[in-house]
Amino acid sequence: MLRPLQGVTMSEAIESLLKENRRFEPPTDFARQARVSSREAYDAMYRESLDDPDTFWRRETSALVFRTPWTKVLEWNLPHARWFLGATLNVTESCLDRHLSTATATKTALLWEGEDGSTRTVTYAELHEKTVRLAGALKQLGVQKGDRVAIYMGMVPEVSVAMLACARIGAVHTVVFGGFSADALRDRIHDSQAKVVITQDGASRRGQVVPLKATVDKALSQPEAKSATHTIVYRHLGSERCRIDMKEGRDAWWDDVLASAPASCEPEIVDAEHPLFILYTSGSTGKPKGVLHTTGGYLAGAHVTSKYVFDLREDDIYWCTADVGWVTGHSYLVYGPLSNGATCFMYEGAPNYPDWARFWRMIEQHKITILYTAPTAIRACMRQGDTWPAKHDLSSLRLLGTVGEPINPEAWVWYHQTIGGGRCPIVDTWWQTETGSIMMATLPGAVAAKPGSTGLPFFGVAPDVVTQEGDPVGANQGGLLVLRKPWPSMFRTLWQDDERFRQGYFSTIKDCYFTGDGARRDEDGYMWVVGRIDDVLNVAGHRIGTAEIESALVSHPAVAEAAAVGRPDDIKGTALVVFVSLRPGSTAGPELRDKLAEHVAKEIGRFARPDLIRFTDALPKTRSGKIMRRLLKDVASGRESTGDTSTLEDLGVLAKLRQDQE
Ligand code: PRX
Repeated sequence: MLRPLQGVTMSEAIESLLKENRRFEPPTDFARQARVSSREAYDAMYRESLDDPDTFWRRETSALVFRTPWTKVLEWNLPHARWFLGATLNVTESCLDRHLSTATATKTALLWEGEDGSTRTVTYAELHEKTVRLAGALKQLGVQKGDRVAIYMGMVPEVSVAMLACARIGAVHTVVFGGFSADALRDRIHDSQAKVVITQDGASRRGQVVPLKATVDKALSQPEAKSATHTIVYRHLGSERCRIDMKEGRDAWWDDVLASAPASCEPEIVDAEHPLFILYTSGSTGKPKGVLHTTGGYLAGAHVTSKYVFDLREDDIYWCTADVGWVTGHSYLVYGPLSNGATCFMYEGAPNYPDWARFWRMIEQHKITILYTAPTAIRACMRQGDTWPAKHDLSSLRLLGTVGEPINPEAWVWYHQTIGGGRCPIVDTWWQTETGSIMMATLPGAVAAKPGSTGLPFFGVAPDVVTQEGDPVGANQGGLLVLRKPWPSMFRTLWQDDERFRQGYFSTIKDCYFTGDGARRDEDGYMWVVGRIDDVLNVAGHRIGTAEIESALVSHPAVAEAAAVGRPDDIKGTALVVFVSLRPGSTAGPELRDKLAEHVAKEIGRFARPDLIRFTDALPKTRSGKIMRRLLKDVASGRESTGDTSTLEDLGVLAKLRQDQE
């Protein structure tokens, strides 16, 4: 179901973005050496990618290892695409083995800093060695091609090893963000029927211990998670900081299984369409969706976008701040950069720990050249003022990226001036868990950036803005953002739910993939994405389904009904506001408010805790009984409702809500 945008109406959002007309041409020095160094070069490659995808993708994937080349580039039986038909490969050969016979073998693949300031480096050769050992260990545990393995870890180099080890043997990983609760982990293990869980004792976050293994214990103690018969536990914090219990016969230490595993493990060569991973994401119902990505197309997308969008160079130190539990971490911390032989920086902890200079100190210390982060982090840093970045030498930076939500021009300009010193191009990248890799970007060196716009389509991508009926709208008109053609890294289905895949993405607009976003395209063809227009909220860059929050709340005995909506927020982009009506006998008040927030944290994870819980006697409903979220959104944002309220059953409910606010 489509609704007005989070917190704002489509026309308001578009109006504010329409006012933005600054252009930032690619810096001359950057453009001179860029991989795509002019608009003409971009146009030619873009045209080729659509007109002759076979030639385009053969050339652009030539650095990757395909054991058998493809015989046909694409088969498109809407909504199902198959790319690179007949090709066989193992992604770890492209990410690791291919580098071993070159100087890249001794190059740092991962440069890591823990929250406590300790550092580690892992070369490509070492990453390979760890990966094949863990792959062998997984085999010894009985994991076979196609089996699922859940990964519940923090930001340590071993999380990349765990993902690659699964890929090495053709197992399908499902990484569960370490901020998810035991119940959420249990649900994902159940849905994917994962056989093994790879975890670590604990992770550091703002100086506190995140008890990952203990959470796995809780998840596995429930019958729904019985498919997982083994865990592998990486010792990160050690027993002094994080005591854990090991269950005999089920839990094994990472070091022990690696020590007893064979030193080599031949890669399982799989079909290009073999599943690589499942990543759960929020949708419009309470049940998370298992987005399924396959091997050849996903790797091609992650590889080629990393190379061009970040203009990756041999000597770059590249930092993507995303957690590996989200898709950005998968594509731009693991598969994309490693398949390009890049050096990736990985940071374990919080951006403001111990203070707001943390990011900038690490950039100076590690001479980071590319920074890829989210608007919410940029806005939070901006709010702290320029003194923090001013303490550090940021001159190593040459490119800045942003992802996850629309960036407001003010934050864009701050990022450009204060962090990038006015000399670094900013790539605003639009994409989704479902798209696997970047779909639109202000390609650095090739095109001018306009603050707030995600620029032009990446190669092979055909976006359009259409009406609800599917008709293209004119320049600067708002509409629904769709993708008209299949692209290699597109998800192939939803795990065990192909019907939801069809219905959710391909039934709204005929013959197109519907993104769930609203957008407008300006007279230069630049896209301005304004945000979700479905039942999904983007809170501080985290994708949260309103239905997930609502079903978590109504599972609490005190709650009769709940409605979750977004409200514009200066830092988070959108804040999560919930309206709750209680069952008879329950008393509204601060105590229950805390209990309900805790309940959401337990059901989903702390990151999904509502920013505000409001108690109400009743929720505004239509005569047919549907909750009118649009009105609640207006109330939450302190706006007058301009829309139609004629279907509202009881206007008194709305008046009361407004009154309570005042
Ligand atoms: O609304 C869009 C927003 O994030 C959504 C996808 O969320 P997720 O699957 O969690 O993936 C996030 C990281 C790829 C999109 O539907 N979004 C992502 N990037 C941008 C964006 N909105 C505006 N500008 C962006 N650059």
